[in-house]
Amino acid sequence: MRSIRDIRLFENIPILVRAALNVPVENGKVVNDYRLRRALPTIRFLAERGAKVVLISHLGEQGTETLAPVALSLGKLIPGVSFFPETIGKESRSAIRNLAPGTILVLENLRRNKGEHMNDPSFAKELSSLADIFVQDSFDTCHRAHASIIGVPKLLPSYAGFLLEEEMKELSEALAPKRPALAIIGGAKFRTKEAVLTTLLETYDHVFVGGALANDFLKALGQEVGKSLVSGADEKVIKKLLAHPKIVLPVDWLVIPARLAGAMNARLEAHIASAGQVQPSEIILDHGPGTITLLSDLAQKAKTILWNGPLGNYEHGFIDATDAFARAVASSHAYSVVGGGDTVASIEGLGLLPRFSFVSTGGGAMLDFLAKGTLPGIEALN
Ligand code: 3PG
Repeated sequence: MRSIRDIRLFENIPILVRAALNVPVENGKVVNDYRLRRALPTIRFLAERGAKVVLISHLGEQGTETLAPVALSLGKLIPGVSFFPETIGKESRSAIRNLAPGTILVLENLRRNKGEHMNDPSFAKELSSLADIFVQDSFDTCHRAHASIIGVPKLLPSYAGFLLEEEMKELSEALAPKRPALAIIGGAKFRTKEAVLTTLLETYDHVFVGGALANDFLKALGQEVGKSLVSGADEKVIKKLLAHPKIVLPVDWLVIPARLAGAMNARLEAHIASAGQVQPSEIILDHGPGTITLLSDLAQKAKTILWNGPLGNYEHGFIDATDAFARAVASSHAYSVVGGGDTVASIEGLGLLPRFSFVSTGGGAMLDFLAKGTLPGIEALN
């Protein structure tokens, strides 16, 4: 795979960069610019060499949001940033033609065009007609078979950006961990985690299944999970994983009466339940202190820790176990790799990001890369 270091001519050349600008925006303002800061090394490298840097990205799932506030935020981190409210077409091409060398143009949200999701060849062709060179730096979307991920590299000379290279290097190393090695896979949706669990069981000593994902495992063990979130995963598949001696499950939970789910006063009636104590009328929202002690002990002994996915219902503010475990990893001496939006947000909120060895910008992409060792967007560059 060619790197941006291999590009020979930069001066005045339009270079299309698929960047990871999918950041949280609230009331028209970027509330977390972590991904923008991680995008800077590639952008700076190209701009300093006189390229016309054209950034393309998605924002949000549906394509309804605008990248205008993101461009504004990026402009606070690096000079020379402007925004154009279209993605493809004559006017975008003319805006790119008028760019001064060494400046940066953010085009509108890729997902405004249906062709992006569908990898429509004519959309990929329109995108590629905007520039002479393509750079892939959006590791977070390399698991998607979208036009800007797998379509454009077929049509333009294509290179990997620094962020993509770094993600591949660090996550490949995490696949061959120093032992003892501890993996923690939390969050929900078993379907998206099955492959990575299977892979990690080959090389890690302990694979902890946490978050709502653990509910499927408890259910398969015949334990009561009340009205808690389950993915409805195939029990046979779960039982096969459960038979593996390296699988570790939570030992206690923070539960509330299900009738209070989403209510402001839910926490007032929250209590800790151990195995066998969860009632049919209750809902599991976080892990308990026994689980944190178990995990912290494993973390202190580990030489490698790999973590993706929160331990509790993060969206509704049940973050105590996630935060407590983040502190345990930060105080361990292990080589620590973490990813997934909510997990990284928790660590960042605690000011502990610098204490982790590598923070992946990928959520689903990180899991898929760990499961398969590559991704469609990486293959497209090869
Ligand atoms: C992410 O935030 O995980 C990536 O940007 C991918 O976004 P998507 O799930 O909307 O494709």
